[in-house]
Parts: sequence; C-alpha cells; structure tokens
Amino acid sequence: MQADFWHDMWASGVVGFHQQEINRFLRDFWPKLELEGQGRVLVPLCGKSLDMLWLRKLGHEVLGIELSQKALDEFLSENQLNAEPVQHDNYCGYELEQMTLLCGDFFQLTAEDCMQVQAVYDRASIVALPPKMRHDYARHLQKVLPKGTPFLMVIMEYDQSTMNGPPFSVLESEVRELFAEFASIEVVDEERFERKGNAVTEKVLLLRP
Ligand SMILES: C[S@@+](CC[C@H](N)C(=O)[O-])C[C@H]1O[C@@H](n2cnc3c(N)ncnc32)[C@H](O)[C@@H]1O
Repeated sequence: MQADFWHDMWASGVVGFHQQEINRFLRDFWPKLELEGQGRVLVPLCGKSLDMLWLRKLGHEVLGIELSQKALDEFLSENQLNAEPVQHDNYCGYELEQMTLLCGDFFQLTAEDCMQVQAVYDRASIVALPPKMRHDYARHLQKVLPKGTPFLMVIMEYDQSTMNGPPFSVLESEVRELFAEFASIEVVDEERFERKGNAVTEKVLLLRP
C-alpha cells in the first residue's frame, strides 16, 4: 500500500478500522503471553489505537509507529494527552509518559529502536499490507526485534477473490510461513462475521519462541 493511500484516508476522516473500545482479544489474551515484568511493547502501524492506552495502564512502556502525523495528533487530542516532540534521527513524533509515538515509515525502524521491546501487539497491522509488503514486514520485524520476541496478532481470513483489501485476507498458514522461526504459533480464539456479504474469520494468534 502506498503511503498516499493512508494519508488520504486519514485526511478524509473516515477510518473504519479504528475502534472506540479496547480490543476484546487484547484484553482476553494478552495475559496468555505470560510476560515477565512490564517491558516495552511494540505496536507497529498503530493508528490512534486506544489499545496503546490499555497496554500502558497495565504498566508497559509503549512504542507505536505510525505513518500519519494526523493519526498521532488525534490520538493525543482525543485522549487529552500532553507530549513532547521526540528526539530521533529517522522519525518525528512524540514522547509522553511511558509511551513513544514515532511518526514515519515502519520500515525505517532499527534494531536499536527495538532493543527494549518485550512483546509485539499486531491488530489491523499485518492485514493492512498487500502480500509483498507482508513478506517485508515479517522479515523486517524479525531483523530488528530481540530474538524470540512474542506476538499477539489478529488476522482475518476470507476469500480474497471476492473482496479487495485492506484489510487483506491473511491466512494462518501464511503467518506460519512468514514467522517460521517461532516454535509455537497458537490460535487462541476465532470469530466469524460477514463483511460486504462475505464470510470472514478473525483469528487471534500467539507467536512464541
Ligand atoms: C488499518 S490501520 C490499523 C491501525 C491500528 N493498528 C488499529 O488497530 O487501529 C493501519 C495503519 O497503518 C499505518 N501505516 C500504513 N503503512 C505504514 C508504514 N509503512 N509505516 C507506518 N505506518 C503505516 C496507516 O496510516 C494506518 O493508520
């Protein structure tokens, strides 16, 4: 997906993927990662997700990466948050209590940025990307994250020939291929619904070393 696609979407103000409530899968299944302590959580392609506030409330340090400055500005203003500009060579963005929000391209993220990352939360992130970009996304994450960093990932499966993405259909089998280095990829829940008359299955995956 080209950056302009997302910038135009944020400019239009129509962001159907944004949830007004904390994601149920996050609340229900985050504890299953059995993280020791309350380390840093990477939220790639974070939008203005309220889930970042939930993770912060749990005690985590949050690192969000988002292309759209407007998304991050709305996140701050809609949640009455004060922030300072971030000091970073590759990104603009914001620094606030227990949270860093980097504005720019996810693919510029470095291993140094991710040094402290203990877990990844991917909701509406991998499914936002077309196939080639998903491949690059998985490779990039595995390059910059500390080895064995666990994920909670929410994917959607549907017949891609009946509907265009985003969100794209990402099969569980694709995740197993892209993240083959994980010893355990477990489906902990799934929910079926209809979208534009097509059957969609949302699956919650835990990726663990
Ligand atoms: C479908 S939205 C999901 C947002 C968020 N994860 C949520 O659950 O609401 C995908 C987001 O990824 C951002 N995005 C797309 N490509 C990106 C990239 N290369 N780097 C950083 N952010 C990107 C878009 O601007 C958009 O806000």
